[in-house]
Amino acid sequence: PPTSQAAAGRPKVLVARKTFDDIVDRLRPHFEVESNDTDLPWPQDELIRRLQGKAGVYISGSDKIDVKLLDACPDLRVVCTMAVGYNNIDVAACSERGVLVTNAPDVLTETTADFGFALMMATARRITESEHFLRAGRWQHWSVTLFAGADIHGATLGVLGMGRIGAAIARRGHLGFGMPVIYHNRSRLPADQEGPLGAQWVEKDELLRRADHLVIVVPYSASSHHLIGQRELRLMKPTATLVNIARGGVVDDAALAAELKAGTIAAAGLDVFEGEPTVHPALLDCENVVLTPHIASATVATRRAMSALAVDNLILALTGGTAKTPLNA
Ligand code: DGY
Repeated sequence: PPTSQAAAGRPKVLVARKTFDDIVDRLRPHFEVESNDTDLPWPQDELIRRLQGKAGVYISGSDKIDVKLLDACPDLRVVCTMAVGYNNIDVAACSERGVLVTNAPDVLTETTADFGFALMMATARRITESEHFLRAGRWQHWSVTLFAGADIHGATLGVLGMGRIGAAIARRGHLGFGMPVIYHNRSRLPADQEGPLGAQWVEKDELLRRADHLVIVVPYSASSHHLIGQRELRLMKPTATLVNIARGGVVDDAALAAELKAGTIAAAGLDVFEGEPTVHPALLDCENVVLTPHIASATVATRRAMSALAVDNLILALTGGTAKTPLNA
């Protein structure tokens, strides 16, 4: 049956999350554009309503594209996320319905690795905890042990998930801070890629036992759900720190809060949370945790690059070109 899109003559697209106006403007010569100017995600029913007659959608990592939405939006041909992670998209269901999905890899790798490193350093050197102490007027005198933390240089860096971002973190640790690097990944890197990173593959439990600072960078999926829970935390050194810049749900936040309180590990730095933007209340109660609101890729330049890549993909895919970063082409 003819669709409203066909009736309009020009494809209609939806920009479901607010982004830079000049980047959205690139869509206008090609499409009829509707955009979300509120900077809040639309509830899924509203997203479905606004997607009627739309051929393409620009989304972020927090907009859910599932079977319900796909079946309710038969005109949808292309889904472009400005995130690298795509656990919010049922890619298999998209493929079954002939819907192209693109994500935004590479453009955020170095920025995200910078942040992972910053979070690791803030966590190990107790930066936010000590700032809270100072701001609360509790600093009475200099002390040898006041907020004494753990060294970064020379300490063993553990990387769980050796994709692009994991490798960029390993490189920083190896070249910049003289850290021995160990990693675990389902597949081992070829030797010529391990060499420049100074990285050694180990089993997951060995990684947990040996790392002084563990950075988690695995994608979220059913198989990585609660990859780090009570058992894994209890394998770690009591002096160790853990950083999660991957996705909430990879770490069991309730177990982490309990083990942080018990002193099983020294501290954690978390940029992502199960059920975010809600944060487990027990984590908010811990002093030895640095908490940030999912900002690892948040520099102006990188967020612009991520948005631009998603917009380029949308244009290419709907004007007869080839999307730059397809997930299911
Ligand atoms: C990503 O790109 O996956 C970041 O986590 C932002 O959602």
